[in-house]
Amino acid sequence: MKILEIEGGKTLSGTVRISGAKNSAVALIPAAILSDEKVTICNVPEITDIDALCEILNHLGAQVKRASESIVIEANGMKNKAIPASMSKKLRASYYFMGALLGKYGKVKMRFPGGCSIGTRPINLHLKGFEALGAKILEEDNCYLIEAEKLHGANIYLDTASVGATINIMLAAVKAKGKTVIDNAAKEPEIVNVATLLNNMGAKITGAGTSTIKIQGVSSLGGCFHEVIPDRIEAGTYLILGACCGNHVKIDNIIPGHLEALTSKLEEAGVEMEIGADFIIVSKPEHPKAIQVRTQPYPGFATDLQQPLTAFLTLCDGKSKIDETIWENRFMHVPYLNQLGADIRIKNQTATIKGPTELVGTTVVATDLRAGASLVIAGLMAEGITKITNVEHILRGYEQIVEKLTNIGANIKEREI
Ligand code: EPU
Repeated sequence: MKILEIEGGKTLSGTVRISGAKNSAVALIPAAILSDEKVTICNVPEITDIDALCEILNHLGAQVKRASESIVIEANGMKNKAIPASMSKKLRASYYFMGALLGKYGKVKMRFPGGCSIGTRPINLHLKGFEALGAKILEEDNCYLIEAEKLHGANIYLDTASVGATINIMLAAVKAKGKTVIDNAAKEPEIVNVATLLNNMGAKITGAGTSTIKIQGVSSLGGCFHEVIPDRIEAGTYLILGACCGNHVKIDNIIPGHLEALTSKLEEAGVEMEIGADFIIVSKPEHPKAIQVRTQPYPGFATDLQQPLTAFLTLCDGKSKIDETIWENRFMHVPYLNQLGADIRIKNQTATIKGPTELVGTTVVATDLRAGASLVIAGLMAEGITKITNVEHILRGYEQIVEKLTNIGANIKEREI
């Protein structure tokens, strides 16, 4: 088993270069199979979620070439085989193969995807979208057979602005006959990034980034070169870390506009930042104040940053509150923060954090990806040694986390026990 061992209490300074966005890359890779030609995607993060998607591509017989941060995918010789549970369960985003294979072949068979246990995570809206496009769905023992004689355009209203459903419906609709309109679509930057890839391949998608996306179906898609946007959640995690224990930490290669909900909350707490065109410089403030945060779909405060932010709120003077409105089980980091010395209570979907509290190292468990990020930050703040188990969750989403933290002066090691 891998663990992270952190000696906390150090002031960090230097530059962290942010990688390509996990939640974009995991959709761009399945999207690429819709093309009949070569698709090159660069700035792909080297994380285990991407390894898992490449394993699925190899299983399907697509040609995949990976060289440092780029991936070249040729889906010409591919076969539409069922994706076994052992592969789909490794990550949530395997569900993008539902939309992509349905769009390419009109048929897909796969098991329900895996991913972090942060809620029930239904896929009813994805399925509703596929049905509206003309597909029939058979579900047995968590295995889905989704099949359409011919996909056709449709008007689809999403009851919840779901990131996954918005992208999956776009993937299934790009080659459907006629026009599809997705209303109450999610507006996350990752959706714009996927629509841009599809448009570069020859699709006709307008409105991505707004709540109405229009897709005029095309008969074929070609090759292209595309870049993954910077990871706003990785950037936000390091920004929060800088506010906890930094002295001029530069978060580089980012789109600051994607982080506005976070930067405005940090400012409210008293954190001073220099915000440049593609970087933010942050230091730990003297006496940060308690704040209230409510997670919301983009451009609201990202649920994925709520867990890392909780570690910072233990430093703030007064009672901070976090309302988690997206996932019903996203406070699993809290008992472990309390073991480190935090004073956090949870009632329903609200966490109340009383601060400031001093943290002291102990052994804790990364129950999911962002819980793990929260514990890494807390471990770096805490006096003494913090050991984090279940590190696999963290490595699914943070590229070279040990190297990036070591570069800014952290004492952190990955060990096999
Ligand atoms: N929902 C439904 N039905 C559906 C789909 C979603 O009710 O068919 C609900 C969910 O239960 C949730 C809300 O809609 O309450 C939003 O879910 P969404 O579909 O937007 O989430 P997702 O696509 O499964 C992505 C990210 C998550 C991130 C959420 C919200 C990927 C691979 N995952 O998940 O990222 O928390 O959007 O922004 O893009 C992470 O990176 O740690 C992570 C969990």
